[in-house]
Amino acid sequence: MTFFEGSPEGSGKKYPVNHWHPGSIRLGMTTGTAMASDSVVPLTRSQIERRLQDCPRLPSLSTINSALRELLNADQRYTSQVAEIIRRDPSLTARLLRLVNSVYYGLTSPVNSIEEAVFYLGVRQIRQLVMVTPVIEDFTRLAGHTAFPWREFWQHCIGTAILAREVLTAQQTPADEVDYVSGLVHDVGKIAMAAAFPRHFEIIHHQRDQRTQDLLSIETEVLGIDHAELGALYLQSHHLPDVLVEVARFHHQPERAGHHAPMVAAVHLADLLVRHARIGNSGNQTPVSDEDWLNDNAWDILFPQKFEAEKMIARATVQRSLERLPTILEGLV
Ligand SMILES: [Fe+2]
Ligand SMILES: [Fe+2]
Repeated sequence: MTFFEGSPEGSGKKYPVNHWHPGSIRLGMTTGTAMASDSVVPLTRSQIERRLQDCPRLPSLSTINSALRELLNADQRYTSQVAEIIRRDPSLTARLLRLVNSVYYGLTSPVNSIEEAVFYLGVRQIRQLVMVTPVIEDFTRLAGHTAFPWREFWQHCIGTAILAREVLTAQQTPADEVDYVSGLVHDVGKIAMAAAFPRHFEIIHHQRDQRTQDLLSIETEVLGIDHAELGALYLQSHHLPDVLVEVARFHHQPERAGHHAPMVAAVHLADLLVRHARIGNSGNQTPVSDEDWLNDNAWDILFPQKFEAEKMIARATVQRSLERLPTILEGLV
């Protein structure tokens, strides 16, 4: 691989590289032999932007809408019509059957037909599945062979997407598929980092296991940029909608968001919730306590004029959704 990992333009600070065991999928599992001769330095903004230009785009993000529209336009009284759209995509079919059989594991005989699966899951869950499948496939290609618990990472992203929608529903924002996609790609900066700066990425996550500092400051120290800003640059360079860029950029600082502040706040809370419940693995294992998510300022962004009672109802609704999440995720990823 010919990725450059540092140059004299950077700060000059060097970090030793620990090489990952090829078979390892968990963070921190290395061969145990740190190769101190190998090192990386933080990069400048222009070096980072140049490198990102070469990073492949996510074709799924531009095709998602057409697949969805087709599905939504299908007359929902006829599950056969929905099933027909799904049948055209073998990977979607496989995921759908896996999902229905894991969510409804109590069924006496496994579900083998798409029509039956559509009947059990309902159109809402099917729509989520249609969106998730191509994005995850793209992400997997982009992330390459970097050692990282990717399956758990996808669970983190999908969990955040599902809960962001729940938060917005509790706040009575009408459903729009863009909030699901925003949740799904909020951490795309980590994937872009693994693709464009694999050695920096490995060092960052190795250090994350050893140090008490938060992930974003380790990223800035080692690479020169954190995953939130990197994700925003990546989405911008591929001309993806502003809302996705803003969610990626501010999902750890929702108070700095502009136009799309409610969406950013919803994704921020969803991210905190899945980390609090330890669902999936975002690569950021800093514990999130009950107080952290219950008292987070993002609730005030979502409910600026409302009574405390409405916030409490919203929190309770979201908490109930959180309990159902692990079962749904098992089937999806
Ligand atoms: Fe993040
Ligand atoms: Fe996240």
